[in-house]
Amino acid sequence: MKARYESILSGDAMNGANDGRPGQPPGSSEDEAPQADGEAEAAGLEARPKPKPIYVLEGNTLKTRLTRDVGIHYPFVGAGMAFVSLPPLVVAVSEAGGLGMLGTAPEPPGVLEARLKAIQAGTQRPYGVDFIVDKLEPHGFTTRDHVDTCIAAKVPVVVFHWTLPPREWIQALQAAGTRVWVQAGTEDLARQALDAGAQGLIAQGRQAGGRNLGSTPTLALVKAFRKLTDAVPVLAAGGIADGFSAARALHHGADGVWVGTRLVASVEAYAHPLYKQRLVDGDAGDTAMTTLFGPEWPGKRMRVIRNRVVREWAGRESSVPPTSESEAIGTTRLFPGVLDVRYVMPKFSSFLPTPDTQGDLEEMSLPAGGASMSRIDTVQPAGQIVVEMMERARRLLESPEGLDEEDEDDRG
Ligand SMILES: Cc1cc2nc3c(=O)[nH]c(=O)nc-3n(C[C@H](O)[C@H](O)[C@H](O)COP(=O)(O)O)c2cc1C
Repeated sequence: MKARYESILSGDAMNGANDGRPGQPPGSSEDEAPQADGEAEAAGLEARPKPKPIYVLEGNTLKTRLTRDVGIHYPFVGAGMAFVSLPPLVVAVSEAGGLGMLGTAPEPPGVLEARLKAIQAGTQRPYGVDFIVDKLEPHGFTTRDHVDTCIAAKVPVVVFHWTLPPREWIQALQAAGTRVWVQAGTEDLARQALDAGAQGLIAQGRQAGGRNLGSTPTLALVKAFRKLTDAVPVLAAGGIADGFSAARALHHGADGVWVGTRLVASVEAYAHPLYKQRLVDGDAGDTAMTTLFGPEWPGKRMRVIRNRVVREWAGRESSVPPTSESEAIGTTRLFPGVLDVRYVMPKFSSFLPTPDTQGDLEEMSLPAGGASMSRIDTVQPAGQIVVEMMERARRLLESPEGLDEEDEDDRG
């Protein structure tokens, strides 16, 4: 009976945190104990510590600590994407065996509550909520009321991005049984997150689409985070859009993948059809990092498709005129299905085009990663994306030759 196939990392191996066992508490001695090599002992040779497996292929499943920790079938997490990851996408990803993640932006807590009810009506499986935290913003998008809404709804996982939330928020969520993860683009932020009690890290590489503070390529950042900790799962974010990129991320030490751009090009994503098509047509090198967009939230660096407005203003981002002097570029609808607020998009609006948006997409912010776009051929149902990506990754990991090289395309 060969029900179990373990892939062993060699050399400076990832330290084996995601070895398929249930999560160990930080600092657990079991995590540190070397495993005796039974065969060597039987042969009378000195037992040497054996490198720990980074993932476990059991029968026809692919397990990591992430899948055990959260209770999901695949080590796949949908990125929390404001405007795009609404309940239909979250439910589709979770029902397919991944972890769907609600994206939030400026919605009031009441809208969040309605979204959580919609998710809970659609799936019994685990899901998460992603928040952007910006301490510099006196009236930030994310407030304690949002956190309390998650606590009341018993949300399984909450993710914070950009900066860290107050520690009391993390503690209150954890006391209610919610896992708290942090998406970080730098080792510095990852260190602070661990110090604040984060139970998972998402390594946001420079390739990643959307708001992005990172300058390190995804796999290198995964390895750097792995060196910081073996106590919590580390997910790879940026350029993961097919089975090969997912398998390679796991092979290089990630406990799971955090997938954004690929899921924007899904049937359930709440994105404008022409924007989805741009992701199918786009390639590596077709995006740019820019601070151009955001009268609503200025000065924030984003990776977006290099469309006309990005090309026109390249190098002149700091001379963007204030909102009051700028013209409108279109209209959209905020909080669709709940409050339905009509919104006139100012030039340089950071709000991406949804099915409700009217206007010229060449003038709009189109968050995306080029490394991911190079791996997208078609718009598909999200469940199919999850299953195909993970099944292909599992097959590749069964004989991982070809995954060793770290030649990731970090052009974005
Ligand atoms: C359209 C879009 C919107 C995004 N919005 C958010 C967001 O609201 N919050 C967040 O934490 N990250 C957001 N991100 C970044 C993702 O969390 C993630 O880092 C990125 O998508 C990973 O790279 P990939 O796009 O190549 O998969 C967004 C990304 C995209 C493409």
